[in-house]
Amino acid sequence: TEKIILDCDPGHDDALAILLAAGDPRCELLAVTTVAGNQTIDKVTRNARAVCTIAGVDVPVARGAAGPLVREAIVAPDYHGESGLDGPVLPTPTVGLDERRAAELIVETVLSHEPGTVTLVPTGPLTNIALALALEPRLAGLVKRVVLMGGSYTRGNRTPAAEFNILADPEAAEAVFAGSWPVTMVGLDLTHQALADDAFRGRVRALGTPLAAFVDELLEFFTAAYAARGFPAPAVHDLCAVAAALDPGVMTYRDAFVTVETAGRWTTGMTVTDFDGDLGRPLTTSVAVGLDRDRLWDMTVAAIAALGG
Ligand code: BDR
Ligand code: CA
Repeated sequence: TEKIILDCDPGHDDALAILLAAGDPRCELLAVTTVAGNQTIDKVTRNARAVCTIAGVDVPVARGAAGPLVREAIVAPDYHGESGLDGPVLPTPTVGLDERRAAELIVETVLSHEPGTVTLVPTGPLTNIALALALEPRLAGLVKRVVLMGGSYTRGNRTPAAEFNILADPEAAEAVFAGSWPVTMVGLDLTHQALADDAFRGRVRALGTPLAAFVDELLEFFTAAYAARGFPAPAVHDLCAVAAALDPGVMTYRDAFVTVETAGRWTTGMTVTDFDGDLGRPLTTSVAVGLDRDRLWDMTVAAIAALGG
């Protein structure tokens, strides 16, 4: 099994990421940490706890950074609503909140496991991950790898050049890509292949559980948000990062050097992706390029079924 710490900003697709991590038999979910991103830290932390509550997920949940390392926070109500998780009625969280800050919990959790066994899966801005690395530089040699949702090698979604998670904290993202740990980038080029269409929604609904109904309500709101942008169905970005961490066969990859533009006039937050070695740097980042969509939906439906609810 894969030991995973999920660092997220729920967020509809973050919520799905939590469910896959909690319900897939190959995953040992060690902790959920939160970061300001899609909404404020208060809202996304409440949302993470609400999702854990409805899914019966009992792992430490720790609150993280309230904003980026050096910039002003940006949020994404246009995709996720004012709550960050608009659509379903959220249960009052009954799962507790860990006393540690996210970065601290990440460091302590990694240090308390065998070196090379814990995978970090960030699905929000990379603030907590950069803070954890600054707090404990040995982390880079101790985690198995970082499988992040963020960036793209073609174009952005928040600006023409930048994807939201990277744009939200480009300095943090730059530090994470520069770290001497193996990084896998699951960016928009991959996640726009993962549109949660009616066929997938139908399979979830057919499970007939309250949790399945909750997921369907999430997807209903998310579908409308993406329809407003001309998408036939919503891209469930963050789910893909968890899938990549658990299943080596669900995606194909190409090696690249990846860094982040932090001082562009129009391109701040762009993930500059060098597949050809033009920049003379080692191609140490694994970039997801192709998705086995059926395999993604199969494992997701199975995980939601396994959680019962
Ligand atoms: C990313 O931004 C957020 O809105 C989503 O949750 C995802 O992590 C996609 O650009
Ligand atoms: Ca997210």
